[in-house]
Amino acid sequence: MNEQILKTTAKYLVADGKGILAADESTASANKRFALVHVDETEENRRAYREILITTPEARGILSGIIFYDETFWQSTADGKSFISYCVDAGILPGIKVDEGLVELPGFPGEKITKGLDALPPRMEKYRDAGAKFAKWRAVIAIGPGTPTDELIRANAFILARYARICQDYDIVPIVEPEVLFDGTHTIEECDAVMVRVYDTLFAFMKELRVYLPGAILKTSMVIPGKDSGIAMDPKDVAERTVRALHDHVPHELGGVVFLSGGQTPTQAFLNLDAIAKKSPHPWGVTFSFSRALQDPVLKYWSEHRNDTNGAMDVFAHQLKIAVDARNGKLETSALGDDFVSGSQDL
Ligand code: G3H
Repeated sequence: MNEQILKTTAKYLVADGKGILAADESTASANKRFALVHVDETEENRRAYREILITTPEARGILSGIIFYDETFWQSTADGKSFISYCVDAGILPGIKVDEGLVELPGFPGEKITKGLDALPPRMEKYRDAGAKFAKWRAVIAIGPGTPTDELIRANAFILARYARICQDYDIVPIVEPEVLFDGTHTIEECDAVMVRVYDTLFAFMKELRVYLPGAILKTSMVIPGKDSGIAMDPKDVAERTVRALHDHVPHELGGVVFLSGGQTPTQAFLNLDAIAKKSPHPWGVTFSFSRALQDPVLKYWSEHRNDTNGAMDVFAHQLKIAVDARNGKLETSALGDDFVSGSQDL
């Protein structure tokens, strides 16, 4: 592992004024979102839609990285330039989601771990040779009666740490994503308690398995009340708790911290990110790695105006501007538009 390369890549991903686009929805997830807005679920439509995101001119100055799914990683623009070369020329680092979905943890009904470790080294080599600079692996942790169990947290943390160390052997920065799900009726205090258990366990395993922390990035949920809790979200409280959990339970030598939007409305995600940024300084670069909060308005617009590529790009440019203002703690609330949320994130 080349520590210098890893550290430099991680710093670039969370550099001032930049953030990451998660465009790594699996084919099944992308199709579900298309179905919701009545777009045909074809490979060409998935390609054409991703091309809009990647080639939006404003993305150049704002995106430090884009996370792809395998299908998209190998695709090209309509005029034949590979998405990966397009990103490289635009100063956007290409990343790849490498986990292969969820399976039940036997003996723990309803709790899931993420699969895909077995053949990971040769896959990583292939992605590295094709230009990937970073990777992502998502584990999910649901909050419910009696869950998450310690065993589930430990199993996912071990897998995330194993994945991270494999990435680093190929000079690829691992983004470790233990997503504490928004679904549920839990309170913000319950979410807070689960998040710190997850962080403590994850980083204990990462240290044990010799992951180079300055060359790794945490992708995390925010500390928020469950979607069905009926509890209103207060960005100040969210920021207070999220920042305390991170500062006290995430090693300060880590390469960076990025947030998922997790099914919050774009407005909620941006207001919370802005409040978190206002609590800087943080020990690491802190930014967004959103899928739905950045993309949902674009997909909706594109589905309604299929021939207006420039219009769809304008919508994406607007989302990027809001995201960057929020990550800088300078969000103008007047810039926030109507919310549209495309539903749950599957693997
Ligand atoms: O794994 C989750 C995605 O990378 C982020 O998606 O912002 O829609 O939660 P999200």
